[in-house]
Amino acid sequence: MSPNLQPAMHFAPLLLLVAATVANALDFSQSSWIWTNEVTTPGGTAPVGSRAFRKTFTPPLGKTPATANIIITVDNGYTLYVNGAEVGVGADFHDAEQYCVALDSCLNVFAVTGVNAGGPAALLVAIEVLYTDGTTSTLVSDTTWRYDVAVPTGYEQLSYDDNSWTPAISQGAYGIAPWDTIAIPSNPPVLSLTNSFWIWTDEVSGGNAPPGSRAFRRTYTPPIGSTPTLAKVVIAADNEYTLYIGGVLIGSGTTFSTAQTYLVPLTSQLNENVVLAVEATNTLTTANPAGLIAAVEIISMDITCGCNSSALFETDARWVYDTSVPAGFEQPAFDDSAWPAAVTEVAYGGAPWNTVSYSP
Ligand SMILES: *[C@@H]1O[C@H](CO)[C@@H](O)[C@H](O)[C@H]1NC(C)=O
Repeated sequence: MSPNLQPAMHFAPLLLLVAATVANALDFSQSSWIWTNEVTTPGGTAPVGSRAFRKTFTPPLGKTPATANIIITVDNGYTLYVNGAEVGVGADFHDAEQYCVALDSCLNVFAVTGVNAGGPAALLVAIEVLYTDGTTSTLVSDTTWRYDVAVPTGYEQLSYDDNSWTPAISQGAYGIAPWDTIAIPSNPPVLSLTNSFWIWTDEVSGGNAPPGSRAFRRTYTPPIGSTPTLAKVVIAADNEYTLYIGGVLIGSGTTFSTAQTYLVPLTSQLNENVVLAVEATNTLTTANPAGLIAAVEIISMDITCGCNSSALFETDARWVYDTSVPAGFEQPAFDDSAWPAAVTEVAYGGAPWNTVSYSP
């Protein structure tokens, strides 16, 4: 072999890596909102309960699947499985979750238990399959997915026979009402307060809260088999906050008109929850408006595929509070199981706070 061929050989794997990295602008532009035939008009009311969906994927001849980059959301929530293994859950359709998972070298099955809590119901997904040769294919939610109105035991397994299942019903292309656009986590993270609510405690009456400090917490569970590595947070409070992540003091702010943005490397372990804890203070001496608002993205690394998963969440009723600020409340191991759900006062943009300036 001529020595001057060596550099090209060395560059080949690097080019593949670049191709794989650049190809992550996955979106929902080709996806449809699908559900069962129980929905009679697009975006119409569907029965409350769980439904099972499957998509079997056989790679083209000569292609070996390596990993899947998946973005998914369900109105109202889901559990996602790949080849029988649970990958993750979602519970707010406004925010998609993104997962990177290892695939089998030939047949693969994506399975979703979708849950409707009332009103419209729909599943939206886009999957980019990366092959070992660096090329990709994209699968989307469409009428090639199949469903069962029951959720049979073991339906998520590769070996399950879904031949008797019915093709999913499309309610329309991504972008249609009532779902409109969905927030997709990006890496590096770009945050928006659009889906956030101003939250406080149940002490708010007529828009006013008593003076003093209150404690808030939100626990994020990473996708199964992954390690949280990075958190990005945009946060503001009326009047002041102190933010902790994983028990570590991250920062504080003293005005509701400007939010701070934090990029925080995490030193978590495999499958360890990320706990955000906030002490928020209504500093005035008489009752007046008080609120806390935040948007968060957490990136996790899947050790088996060496790629990232990411999730967005905002201040809403999944945060919990205490009307005191107990010692050690910021520590991940603190037991907040008896804390009530935060009270959502108004969506971002609403009075009296209107918009907040922040860097996304
Ligand atoms: C995973 O995410 C981190 C944090 O944004 C980033 O530095 C890293 O390059 C990502 N890794 C891959 C394989 O995309």
